[in-house]
Amino acid sequence: MTTLETGFTMDASSIKFGPGMTHETGFEAKRFGCSRVMVVTDPRLSKLEPVANAVASLKSEGIDAVVFDGSRTEPTDASFQAAIDFARDGDFDGYVAVGGGSSIDTAKAANLYATYPADLLAYVNAPIGRGEPVPGPLKPLIAVPTTAGTGSETTGVAIFDLVEMGAKTGIAHRALRPVVGIVDPENTRSLPSMVAACSGFDVLCHGLESYTALPFADREAAESPEMRPSYQGSNPISDVWSLRAVEMVAQNMVRAVTDPSDEEARTQMLLAATFAGVGFGNAGVHLCHGMSYPVSGRVKEFCPDGYPQDEPLVPHGMSVVLNAPAVFRWTGSASPHRHLRMSEAMGADVRDVDPSDAGDLLAERVIGLMRATGMPNGLSAIGYGEDDVDALVQGTLPQHRVTKISPRPVDADALRELFRASMTLW
Ligand SMILES: NC(=O)c1ccc[n+]([C@@H]2O[C@H](COP(=O)([O-])OP(=O)(O)OC[C@H]3O[C@@H](n4cnc5c(N)ncnc54)[C@H](O)[C@@H]3O)[C@@H](O)[C@H]2O)c1
Repeated sequence: MTTLETGFTMDASSIKFGPGMTHETGFEAKRFGCSRVMVVTDPRLSKLEPVANAVASLKSEGIDAVVFDGSRTEPTDASFQAAIDFARDGDFDGYVAVGGGSSIDTAKAANLYATYPADLLAYVNAPIGRGEPVPGPLKPLIAVPTTAGTGSETTGVAIFDLVEMGAKTGIAHRALRPVVGIVDPENTRSLPSMVAACSGFDVLCHGLESYTALPFADREAAESPEMRPSYQGSNPISDVWSLRAVEMVAQNMVRAVTDPSDEEARTQMLLAATFAGVGFGNAGVHLCHGMSYPVSGRVKEFCPDGYPQDEPLVPHGMSVVLNAPAVFRWTGSASPHRHLRMSEAMGADVRDVDPSDAGDLLAERVIGLMRATGMPNGLSAIGYGEDDVDALVQGTLPQHRVTKISPRPVDADALRELFRASMTLW
């Protein structure tokens, strides 16, 4: 007989929020005893103000700041390994990530494998990797996000594309969580609008998926406290953060994407990203994310504006939201009231809605926001077709970390239908 979980864990994140806070990066690094740090960023951001400001602040506190600008947009096993090698050779006593989720996740991996050397699959989620727990505490990592955003400054998760598998996977352990996130609205001023849209949909889906995830008490109990997953299922504390994040996105996203000079909307989106990070970082995400991993990993020729043009890529938030309408239509019956609450948070009047329409209503709200912000019309618009469905299903099935907290148990047949329904959305 299955024993169900009886408790959940809430790991709080330490956050500094406000315009100009990047100038306190040095103060924070010193507070954590750092004298020589690896500043992890990507080639575009290394030329922009957020990195210059963080490095100047570190230097003003006498901290040796060595910039590594080799983070890849949408990291791979090889790009993680390059950062790990740099970290191992560098003898650092701390890490500062300045960038989007790609740079923050790269810094988490560099910190982990330089501190506890192992082959890359050792700490990667089972069954793709061996899922070994992180052996102990890591060096301090300070995260300065420049997108709004993954919420990676609040989570113990690092995601990368395992190229030989053709799908993303990750490392999830609370020891990876940054010691502090410096969340500064001035750092998102230069965001291209497509990056603002894709990262904004990541925030929205973090909120929607964590709020509708299988409740923690319906999940199989962990074998031991050490093995309790970071993605525990929806719980009363995460609910508060996720719900508020969805409201903030619904109210601000179109303005933030279409008018980067709208300081208020950009600030609210960045705050929403952090709220959603605290929510999903302790509850988890489910099928929109699970299905996104092969959508990103099996990219053909697609490469949207605003992103590096040297290689094809499907930005993370886009790969997630393209599946969202089909997923919520299907999960609506598992928890109609939770799906209705999400539609209400997105501005719908739900008073006279029949609970059997809850999934459809939420799908329509998401599609409305996609159309208002220039998202492609489904997976077919980014190069996928019927011939790809089986491979997309095979890339989703091993993503147990997220599929296990789907509000409805999912199998290959259900995934096949969900991918087919995601090909064209309107
Ligand atoms: N660890 C987590 O909890 C978590 C959660 C969600 C997503 N992720 C991962 O994060 C990655 C995506 O991160 P992201 O969406 O933040 O984008 P990103 O880090 O991939 O950046 C996207 C592009 O925007 C550029 N950019 C970023 N900030 C900019 C700025 N302020 N001005 C100008 N250009 C800027 C970058 O140089 C890059 O070219 C994916 O790999 C995804 O899987 C991680």
